[in-house]
Amino acid sequence: MLSRDRETLITVEQVSKSFPLPDGKGEFTVLSDINVAVQSGEVVALLGRSGSGKSTLLRIMAGLIPPSSGQVFSSGKPLRGANDDVAMVFQSFALLPWLTVQENVELGLEARGISRIDRQQRALKAIDLVGLDGFESAYPKELSGGMKQRVGFARAFVLEPQVLFMDEPFSALDVLTSENLRGEIDDLWNAKTFPSKSILIVTHNIEEAVFLADRVIILGSKPGRVRGEVVIDLPRPHDRAHPRFKAFVDYIYTVMTNPEIEVTGIAPAKIDRVQSPYAMPLPHVRVGGISGLLELIVDQPQSREDLPRLAERLQLEVDDLLPIVDAAALLGFAEVAQGDVTLTPAGQDFATTTILRSKDLFRQQALQRIPVFTSMMQTLREKPNGAMRADFFLNLWNEHFPSGEVDRQFATAVDWGRYAELFEYDANEERLYLPEIAILNPPAEKIDR
Ligand SMILES: Nc1ncnc2c1ncn2[C@@H]1O[C@H](COP(=O)(O)OP(=O)(O)OP(=O)(O)O)[C@@H](O)[C@H]1O
Ligand SMILES: [Mg+2]
Repeated sequence: MLSRDRETLITVEQVSKSFPLPDGKGEFTVLSDINVAVQSGEVVALLGRSGSGKSTLLRIMAGLIPPSSGQVFSSGKPLRGANDDVAMVFQSFALLPWLTVQENVELGLEARGISRIDRQQRALKAIDLVGLDGFESAYPKELSGGMKQRVGFARAFVLEPQVLFMDEPFSALDVLTSENLRGEIDDLWNAKTFPSKSILIVTHNIEEAVFLADRVIILGSKPGRVRGEVVIDLPRPHDRAHPRFKAFVDYIYTVMTNPEIEVTGIAPAKIDRVQSPYAMPLPHVRVGGISGLLELIVDQPQSREDLPRLAERLQLEVDDLLPIVDAAALLGFAEVAQGDVTLTPAGQDFATTTILRSKDLFRQQALQRIPVFTSMMQTLREKPNGAMRADFFLNLWNEHFPSGEVDRQFATAVDWGRYAELFEYDANEERLYLPEIAILNPPAEKIDR
């Protein structure tokens, strides 16, 4: 596989195609106002019912027949005659029975005037790529259907086309053989060793389109026209077990059986996964540090202070001050803008009230603004004894932080949680527990006294 930069390889502009009616009176329209582009690096499927003009469109893009109106551009140039940028794989294999595998594969190269030695080398390479090593001198009648189509692929690969066209390449094969060959073609493409920059495949098999293609163009019938496209935004290889795979198949099936429906595609994959409360880092600051900072600022005019001056007053580097400021901001006690820290009303309240009330305020802010505390409290409340091993929480942090940092996150959460009287921590038993439970169920030895 060469470069996969976005580059338009083939463009079909306002192409229509009509054929004369058999009685010689008038004509019928097979394709009407088709606009399609094939970019490098993509697999495009043309999906439509029988008679919707898929093969006709492919033949026009390959330059085998001219459009009645409109134009095809290939590599930026208007197409006249056969399109050298493409090679075709046919449903019917289209092998010459009197030629060997190797001779069949070399045929197209001969037409392009390539020397005998080069032809041989390139053919052997292509035969190798499709897994027919050792069958070079066999005749088509000695081969199974699947092997014949492998020759069909080798014959197209050997030309190293910009775009590989395939017209229902697997539909003449039995189910297992087609499944096998389709998978191998997909593997080659995904391994980026494919001999063309993009693939255009015609099919009327929805699963095949969703499995192979990055984009499925849906053709309507009578006359053939583009109804719309569906972008298959699944990771490659497209996994049939992926829930969105089935959603794509179902959606396209609905569209294909309802000619009036507008083709819009399905909603893109949700990437904003729900964030775990344990993914948000707590700044490693003791509560005493936060209240000390707030008390220093609350005396300033408008409860505002310049950060460097604050650092100077505290005899701290600005870098050491920042975690404390972050913690105050996280709790909603302060706001930082343009190098100034300003206390919020809650921050002013916290800095000036009594110890008891400041604990209430801290608890309220922590539960409202820091999801990890809500989550920890929920866990503890769900336990009948209101207690939980520290391991349980450490494991949750472990998903998001390296091991040393996990312990620090835990230590900070315990410091803040204890101060706010949300929970208590027994370091010997390594358990967190709700303080009210401790009062209701005092330890056994205390009852004895
Ligand atoms: N050379 C031709 N002369 C007259 N009519 C033609 C010619 N080629 C195709 N047609 C007609 O054009 C229509 C579309 O044919 P085409 O083969 O492009 O359809 P398709 O979508 O590939 O169908 P299928 O899925 O059966 O292969 C059909 O009605 C067909 O009979
Ligand atoms: Mg066809």
